[in-house]
Amino acid sequence: MNFENFKKIVQNTRSTRRFKKKITIDKRELIELIDIARTVSSGKNMQPLKYIAITDEKIKDEIYKPLVWAAHLTDWNQNKDEKPSAYILVINDTSIEGFSAIDSGIAMQTIMLGATSKGYSGCILASIDKIAYKKLFNLDNHLEPMFIIALGVKDENIEVVDVTNSTDTNYYRDTNDNHCVPKRSLDTILINKD
Ligand SMILES: Cc1cc2nc3c(=O)[nH]c(=O)nc-3n(C[C@H](O)[C@H](O)[C@H](O)COP(=O)(O)O)c2cc1C
Repeated sequence: MNFENFKKIVQNTRSTRRFKKKITIDKRELIELIDIARTVSSGKNMQPLKYIAITDEKIKDEIYKPLVWAAHLTDWNQNKDEKPSAYILVINDTSIEGFSAIDSGIAMQTIMLGATSKGYSGCILASIDKIAYKKLFNLDNHLEPMFIIALGVKDENIEVVDVTNSTDTNYYRDTNDNHCVPKRSLDTILINKD
């Protein structure tokens, strides 16, 4: 893959919250993504993360309940026709002394990039109910749910726009219902410009 293709995959990997309905993602595809995430960098190579691949309809309903979609969009909520097709639950095995906060970021972005390259889109969500999920999967005490990654086929238009006011990075929907994600310009984040 050349750099331009890589750039496209990164730029197209956007947090997606409106998914096409009636799309099935095979559990094997989720496992393929987890299998890639398994090989990425890990602090001290301790690898404390574990995963659950979720495609079962009843379990998906339970996973869905506590999720908070796009907290900044106060006049929008995901409707029942926009739900994700599958989920990957990211778990910290606290019996392994690792760097789960950092490792999970690296692993989740890898899964998100892999999903894009497969034609899917996703959203990392921190707004989960850790206690409910622990019960749902009958997890031992040392297995702590951290994040869920929702996956499906994108059914919205998402655009990256420049941050215009440095104190306001909130995403918003424009008048054409495009989801706009303000990012700080290179100029404002690159300290050594020459
Ligand atoms: C650690 C983390 C937690 C997040 N939690 C949520 C969440 O609970 N609900 C949600 O709708 N989006 C969540 N997001 C998505 C962010 O809102 C999103 O990354 C941000 O708006 C920028 O959009 P982009 O990912 O397309 O660049 C989360 C993202 C990260 C990295």
